[in-house]
Amino acid sequence: MAEAPVPYDVVIIGGGPGGYNAAIRAGQLGLKVACVEMRATLGGTCLNVGCMPSKALLHASEMFDAANSEFAKIGIEVQPKLNLGQMHKAKDDSVTALTKGIEFLFKKNKADWIKGRGKIVAKGKVEVTAADGSVQTLEARNIVIATGSEPTPLPGVAFEDGKVIDSTGALSLPAVPKKLIVIGAGIIGLELGSVWRRLGAEVTVVEFLDRITPGMDTEVATAFQRTLTKQGMVFKLGAKVTGAKPVKDGVELTVEPSAGGAAETIKGDVVLVAIGRRPYTEGLGLETIGVTPDKRGFIDHDHFKVADGVWVIGDVTHGPMLAHKAEEDAVAVIDTIAGKYGHVDYALVPSVVYTFPEVAWVGQTEDQLKAAGVAYKKGKFPFTANSRAKINHETDGFVKVLADAATDKVLGVHIMGPQAGEMIHEAAITMSFGGASEDIARTCHAHPTRSEAVRQAAMDVEGWMMQA
Ligand code: FAD
Ligand code: NAI
Repeated sequence: MAEAPVPYDVVIIGGGPGGYNAAIRAGQLGLKVACVEMRATLGGTCLNVGCMPSKALLHASEMFDAANSEFAKIGIEVQPKLNLGQMHKAKDDSVTALTKGIEFLFKKNKADWIKGRGKIVAKGKVEVTAADGSVQTLEARNIVIATGSEPTPLPGVAFEDGKVIDSTGALSLPAVPKKLIVIGAGIIGLELGSVWRRLGAEVTVVEFLDRITPGMDTEVATAFQRTLTKQGMVFKLGAKVTGAKPVKDGVELTVEPSAGGAAETIKGDVVLVAIGRRPYTEGLGLETIGVTPDKRGFIDHDHFKVADGVWVIGDVTHGPMLAHKAEEDAVAVIDTIAGKYGHVDYALVPSVVYTFPEVAWVGQTEDQLKAAGVAYKKGKFPFTANSRAKINHETDGFVKVLADAATDKVLGVHIMGPQAGEMIHEAAITMSFGGASEDIARTCHAHPTRSEAVRQAAMDVEGWMMQA
């Protein structure tokens, strides 16, 4: 008689930053683990069509733009020529190296990658259908759902290859569009809009709200929009797209004021729809275990637990749709399954927009503090007064530190400036220790660094900023 299969301690469905980090952590803790992923490569949205390819294009296009507009100012005369094919190849090579790296980490940590689409068919059972149609059923003591998210479509604006595209399409355009229209002034719209503007496209961003980047501190967002406008991006705020008509040489969009009013038609040769992402649970078999996603499609949980032996992490559940949040969830859920202490402080998940300059923040915005009636002090320092920024001719932006008026505890830090995404972590660490603005202000910072601006902004909370 054939022996019954040995059940896995954990079967994870989805191999993105949530799923692959969970698999690696489970392997580290000696759990028998499998990760089911239906893509041809591991790494999920982030490595294949998200964080990594977008950052590759942002880096390359930033260098192209600098070579075009900044080099001559510091005495370097060049005439850069765009080789878009090579730019895409360099991006694709990096993505391949990164996804192979995850495969290596799976082997190192004894995590099995089961290739195919996973479906929960009963408690503790995941059926996997491979690309060739073959089916196997995995037995699992615990199932972790890490199926991620997908672009939200816009009603009336159907996707059409090469003309009306989502972020994945915008990562591999074969030519620079003459006129790109971006729908949504969120993170994807501004990052990928920046890429194509730097490579030569005229970029118009249509945004429903009367501001860009909801969620970003309003003072920062206002300064950020001013900077992007100076770079040549055109913003149509308080406007909604109600229809799209592909024509021979592009797409005609019908745009109406969000508050109502006369419609107008604008035309672009490519339209990028970037109005948010939605959780992905198609064909997952949630109904077989009595789970119904909420109205917006997210799976609810209680400390990652969805049902007996079923857990959820990453974009498919609540919280910021960020790779590092999915990674935090991953470690916390596996530690919890293994009987250890798993915890994520969602208030301290940093956000970074990888434009030039970058924008990064952690903790609360001034808008949130005002709305909650919290008494706070504010310190601010401009990069125009920072020596490293001045030497590098990169003085746009500032640092803002918000601290509790009574205790001086840091409540939020907001940075707009080059490498803000690298600088935000001293704020995150200070906050994770419950630190005060004075802790940053009295910590020696190396000179000349941009990080001195963080210290100076912290000094300004008590009014003893020294360099401006
Ligand atoms: P995903 O990465 O979406 O992975 C889920 C995986 O599950 C997918 O590979 C999918 O194929 C698989 N899957 C789904 N259903 C099944 C099934 N039934 N069976 C088998 N496999 C299945 N975040 C950042 O933090 N920083 C950034 O710079 C950043 N840039 C981004 C740029 C773009 C253009 C986009 C689109 C996103 C970006 N993000 C960024 C967001 C980030 O990619 C996501 O937050 C992150 O990937 C979420 O991880 P996840 O593991 O929850 O889901
Ligand atoms: P988003 O939520 O950041 O922004 C969407 C924007 O579209 C909002 O400003 C919204 O008001 C607007 N909008 C919605 N409906 C609209 C309509 N009908 N017409 C015009 N505007 C409309 O979503 P985005 O940019 O698609 O990104 C999705 C998620 O991916 C982000 O929230 C983030 O979690 C993640 N991401 C993170 C990155 C990073 O960390 N650097 C980079 C890229 C994506």
